[in-house]
Amino acid sequence: MSLDRLFAAARAAQARAYAPYSGFRVGAAVLGASGAVHAGCNVENAAYPIGTCAEAGAVAAMVLAGETRIAAVLVVGDGEALVAPCGGCRQRLREFAGAETPVHVAGPEGVRRTFTLGELLPFAFGPDNLA
Ligand code: THU
Repeated sequence: MSLDRLFAAARAAQARAYAPYSGFRVGAAVLGASGAVHAGCNVENAAYPIGTCAEAGAVAAMVLAGETRIAAVLVVGDGEALVAPCGGCRQRLREFAGAETPVHVAGPEGVRRTFTLGELLPFAFGPDNLA
């Protein structure tokens, strides 16, 4: 099932996170329209603001693989609080996903909540605005 594949890929990516400054490791996985899963982890930097989120890595891996449509997203982080995509990453996902695209938010034990991208980023600006 694609949700299991997304979770496994995001957890494996989380284990590879480079987060020496925050200590907060995040993994993300996107399901491409082809059925392939593309994952990413957060990559921090000594110059703090240029660190990148796990979702940005997953989107870059997807584009590199030749895909530009996202069918589902899963993000995983540790701790009690929900690790929903940050504002910037909601916009990154919007470029390749629609308002109905599911965004699963997981902890180490599994999926905690599922949102649509439209719930997370209502009235989004997107590619249609420039068409
Ligand atoms: N982080 C992500 O990778 N994705 C998110 O959606 C939220 C935050 C990362 C960025 C930074 O490396 C660490 O979590 C702490 O903010």
